[in-house]
Amino acid sequence: MHDNSSLISKRKKEHLEFCLSDKVSFREKTNGFENYEFRHFAITEVDISKIDFGTEFFGKKINYPFLISCMTGGTSEAENINAQLALAAKQLNIPIGVGSQRQALENEEFHNSYKIIRKNAPGIPVVGNLGASQIVNLKSFDKIKYIAELIEADAMTVYVNPLQELMQEHGEPLFKGFLKAIEKLVKYCEIPIIVKEVGAGISKKAAYKLLNAGVQGIDVAGAGGTSWSGVEILRNHGDVNNKFWDWGLPSSYCIRTVSKLKNKFDFTLIGSGGIHDGFDIAKAIALGADITASARIILQELNKSGIEGVVNLIKDWFDTVRKIMFLTGSVSITELNYDKIIRKEKLY
Ligand SMILES: Cc1cc2nc3c(=O)[nH]c(=O)nc-3n(C[C@H](O)[C@H](O)[C@H](O)COP(=O)(O)O)c2cc1C
Repeated sequence: MHDNSSLISKRKKEHLEFCLSDKVSFREKTNGFENYEFRHFAITEVDISKIDFGTEFFGKKINYPFLISCMTGGTSEAENINAQLALAAKQLNIPIGVGSQRQALENEEFHNSYKIIRKNAPGIPVVGNLGASQIVNLKSFDKIKYIAELIEADAMTVYVNPLQELMQEHGEPLFKGFLKAIEKLVKYCEIPIIVKEVGAGISKKAAYKLLNAGVQGIDVAGAGGTSWSGVEILRNHGDVNNKFWDWGLPSSYCIRTVSKLKNKFDFTLIGSGGIHDGFDIAKAIALGADITASARIILQELNKSGIEGVVNLIKDWFDTVRKIMFLTGSVSITELNYDKIIRKEKLY
């Protein structure tokens, strides 16, 4: 028998270690943003100094359409990482997600690793996190309320990760009843429910079913950045040529197709999965994302250059977005839309 709690903590530690390297990137598949170019607008009259990125995230004002994705919690290392990420998020006034709160359901040992986010960043939107495989097994949603209250969450994210569970030793690839459970959870929870992938992407069809069930946010977390299949293959000392390493729908495809559902549903679309510079952010927004997000690259920057490094990285990315808005004649983030990009092959 495994001690569940120590097994989860050990796995979380290993995930952090692997994610500090680039070994876990997709091998051949990309996020797809390189297939688009911006439409240069030679007669721009945009005043670049007046561009304001301020927007809202589930009712709270934020300064940039960017979320620090759910990463960690439930280990002693996680407390330090979350403490620093929260301070970076506070300086930027942007939302942040905690990593899976499964450990917090097991016992109280590492509760501070989650609570520290709210403590260090009292005013910003904080997003809780739990996996689909836990949701389907919960006897009562009171536990969700409990972990949401632990961090005074503004929204709760449920991650769907069938590929990762399939590839993981002791994984739980059993999601029977998930959609029904989400439907109940949405009704039960007072805060909005977001559903996210972890790097294999959410298709339009999956998003449609989730939105029909009442979900208020979709984070596509598409392919092209961190391969969680790759992480699990490396953890198991498996075959690095395993074709499932590169399984998934590219982030750009997911954003473009899921955003079409805006005609029918009112929801927040988070564009993520391999977002690694201002060009990716601007293209994600032009393809229909309301807000963008990154995980591993933020962790790596924190490890390399600390809180200031993370703050400067995100500011630099948005300086690039500002330049792109100027050059495409986009006064506001809403004007940075599908008309401002073009598929590369159409240029020749
Ligand atoms: C170290 C690390 C831990 C993660 N843990 C979680 C988690 O607990 N829950 C979750 O929903 N996603 C988790 N993720 C997935 C990210 O939130 C994100 O969806 C995914 O890594 C793709 O984004 P990226 O390409 O920017 O890394 C984790 C990512 C990293 C890098």
